[in-house]
Amino acid sequence: MAGVSPQPEQGRGVQSGNGPGLVWRRSGGSVGSGAEQSSGGAHKAMAGNGERVESWTSTLRAEQHAMDLGAELGPADPAAYTMRRPIPEPMPADRHGPARIIALANQKGGVGKTTSTINLGAALAEYGRKVLLVDFDPQGALSVGLGVNPHNLDLSVYNLLMQDDVTAEDVLIKTDVAGLHLLPANIDLSAAEIQLVNEVAREMALARVLRSVRKEYDYILIDCQPSLGLLAINALTVSHGVLIPLECEFFSLRGVALLLDTIDKVRERLNFDLELEGILATMYDSRTTHCRQVLQRVVEAFGDKVYQTVITKTVKFPESTVAGAPITTLDPASSGARNYRQLAREVIAAQAER
Ligand SMILES: Nc1ncnc2c1ncn2[C@@H]1O[C@H](COP(=O)(O)OP(=O)(O)OP(=O)(O)O)[C@@H](O)[C@H]1O
Ligand SMILES: [Mg+2]
Repeated sequence: MAGVSPQPEQGRGVQSGNGPGLVWRRSGGSVGSGAEQSSGGAHKAMAGNGERVESWTSTLRAEQHAMDLGAELGPADPAAYTMRRPIPEPMPADRHGPARIIALANQKGGVGKTTSTINLGAALAEYGRKVLLVDFDPQGALSVGLGVNPHNLDLSVYNLLMQDDVTAEDVLIKTDVAGLHLLPANIDLSAAEIQLVNEVAREMALARVLRSVRKEYDYILIDCQPSLGLLAINALTVSHGVLIPLECEFFSLRGVALLLDTIDKVRERLNFDLELEGILATMYDSRTTHCRQVLQRVVEAFGDKVYQTVITKTVKFPESTVAGAPITTLDPASSGARNYRQLAREVIAAQAER
């Protein structure tokens, strides 16, 4: 079923018309569509994510099939989704902290979590914000992407989580970007997931660690590993918001249902204030109808929770990982750098509205 031209499944009720009805409500904000906005807030809106995503997928399948048959369908102009409202220039930051903590999470691999953590962080720092990036993936890709060799670390996030006598200052690395700091990780972190299981308040280990540094930063961005295990739960427990990078392709939204259920559970049991920070469309190629359709569906499903900024697909991103620097410094005028600067402005504007 993979690929660009999936066929409609037999026996599945294919919706037509007004989209899938999967709606996320931002408190006080507007939404894209759906009938479930009236009561119960985000919790109710999220009930039955799986079913809604099934119908979302069916609709997309039907459209894709129709397209194969040459039928005319939207979206003709992706700008309709990407330029919905003006994004203000950020005010200069005259003081710092306490930080808004944002987890970049999606249990699907390779969707742009690490790339977004590095480049959103660098762009926020360009706007004068103090930013701490937390590598919370034993692969250490965030550290590598910032030019740090994870094998050569004396201390890492692992020590911070497991040893009371290690402080964030001991582990912290200042990157080449002014105002951008890193808590690096390596494969040791995979042991923490197992060792923490027997600890008291095992979901709070990262929260304990970040408490002392929160006041010094404007943003703390946590790069999660592609799973919904104990490390991810730790990241969601300490965060104010979850930013979900979503690759513009057919299967993307299916995995998001599970992530949204997990966010709901963490909100109910561990972190009442956890919000969906936003959904970020990544690896967007405006030349393909498929990409545009996926973006249309995502905006219909999540409304204003989808950032207007979409991250275009460009080989500059893999190149910047090899170079060990953010795209904003490596190629400041590139479309990728401009995308992440615009995202930073959206993130700052959203916080100003709170
Ligand atoms: N907008 C983009 N255009 C092209 N390539 C991209 C883009 N964003 C990320 N990539 C590349 O896609 C690959 C996966 O990106 P990244 O590592 O950021 O994803 P991830 O979600 O962190 O992956 P994992 O789940 O393994 O941690 C990398 O090689 C990266 O350079
Ligand atoms: Mg990653």
